[in-house]
Amino acid sequence: MDGKQAAGRRAADEIKDGMTIGLGTGSTVYYFLEALAKKVANGFKMTGVATSQKTIDLANEWKIPMHALNDVAKIDVTVDGADEVDSKLNGIKGGGGALLYEKLVAKASARRIWIVDASKKVEQLGAFPLPVEVVPFGWKHVHAYLSEKGYRPELRYAADGQPYVTDAHHYILDLHLQSIANAESLANELDHLTGVVEHGLFLGMTEKVIIGYPDGHTETLE
Ligand code: A5P
Repeated sequence: MDGKQAAGRRAADEIKDGMTIGLGTGSTVYYFLEALAKKVANGFKMTGVATSQKTIDLANEWKIPMHALNDVAKIDVTVDGADEVDSKLNGIKGGGGALLYEKLVAKASARRIWIVDASKKVEQLGAFPLPVEVVPFGWKHVHAYLSEKGYRPELRYAADGQPYVTDAHHYILDLHLQSIANAESLANELDHLTGVVEHGLFLGMTEKVIIGYPDGHTETLE
């Protein structure tokens, strides 16, 4: 067992029969989905709302019943991973490129739970490059602006050497900031930048963080 597996399995205990559940994206969520699929196979009733095509594919393979976000009135709880989380439960997400749909699903959810291994716990956000999703049209100008500000943006590339394209057909600029002194003001700046669709600062957007450890035990922050 590793920490991701411990956290993913523990989150499955939070799910009650009949819930509509937001399903995050990533290697930690994989273990949550695996545990959820076992419950469904045993007759558990639920509806999932995915945050990425990768999660839809996995849910279909594991026969987890799914709806699109537009087809549900509300989501009871969303379980998702994170790339960094601080002691105030603010975080960076989007390492897997799903930040836009993850934020949309998180905002439609009554409760949010993040599942992480202990390596994701940080004193200050920013060592993990901050993903910024941008429209492909004119992206070089957004890149130039962010460079001038000293944010050290790098266009994300896919394995085939082409720019990485999100599920919503955008590009990602990863900001190599090293540390973020004022996350609120950076989030506010990025929220108002033309050409930026979304960014990976998730501030005040989770109520609970489950941290998993390699020996299988978990710690909960809330
Ligand atoms: C996906 O875009 C991300 O926000 C993930 O939730 C995050 O990168 C955590 O992924 P892992 O669980 O694979 O580390």
